[in-house]
Amino acid sequence: MKGIVLAGGTGSRLWPITKVVSKQLLPVYDKPMIYYPVSTLMLAGVREILIITTPHDQESFIELLGDGSQFGIELSYAVQPKPEGLAQAFIIGEKFLDGKSCMMILGDNIFHGAGLGHDLINSIPKSGAHIFTYEVSNPSDYGILKLDSKGLPESITEKPKSFISNLAVTGLYAFDSKVSEIAKGVEPSDRGEYEITSVINSYLISNTLTYTALSRGTAWLDTGNPQSLNDAADYIRIIEERTGLKIGCLEEIAFRNSWINANQLSVNAANLGKNSYSSYLLSLLS
Ligand code: G1P
Repeated sequence: MKGIVLAGGTGSRLWPITKVVSKQLLPVYDKPMIYYPVSTLMLAGVREILIITTPHDQESFIELLGDGSQFGIELSYAVQPKPEGLAQAFIIGEKFLDGKSCMMILGDNIFHGAGLGHDLINSIPKSGAHIFTYEVSNPSDYGILKLDSKGLPESITEKPKSFISNLAVTGLYAFDSKVSEIAKGVEPSDRGEYEITSVINSYLISNTLTYTALSRGTAWLDTGNPQSLNDAADYIRIIEERTGLKIGCLEEIAFRNSWINANQLSVNAANLGKNSYSSYLLSLLS
């Protein structure tokens, strides 16, 4: 499977913070936000990843993450010229996908908890679309899944104004090789965007949509406004301080997966200079 991280958008709900810097480059405690979604794909075993950014921010992402070889992965980059919706990712990424199935993750989505590694990718059927839902207290902020009496997907509504269910569609999706063709047929919504919900609905209509309900023990964090961004940083800090282990540490995941060797890990640490992050990387060697 290939992976796409969609890190475009204006981040206007965070202005002025994101007026001149991409939201996905902001710190979430001790690392840039984009590390977390990339780590989710890496934990699922995905190693070929396309990062889609605004034209203006692309250079910074390349400077930060390079070709990915230091993390034992292959990164490529593409731009979304205007923030016209998540479904465009599959059209922009069509060449990269080259007819393969993919996992797509939104660059501002942070997942943490058991069952997010190989279990996650193993739960995805070979064809169709697969979504991951999470119970939330503020369903009007998300795409929402309604289930029928048999527990099968019945409908998905983008940001419903009245209550339908509390099952939010998280920003992590798996699609088969048909996704780019399907995305090309999507019409813009009332808010003028090519919605991911329209792509998912088209799988739903053809009875090829499945879902995994993420367990209560999993954390799915939002970073959409100043408060939730701060909450996400607090969450990461509290867990990291308590356990002494880092969340979303790309070098560590690569090392533990044997995608990079001890020498590459010490080179990565040296390239970061002297700080607590590089000390952590060095501590993994002993
Ligand atoms: C997007 C999707 C929505 C999904 C959410 C998850 O919303 O449109 O279906 O539930 O991401 O983060 P946005 O964050 O673009 O408002």
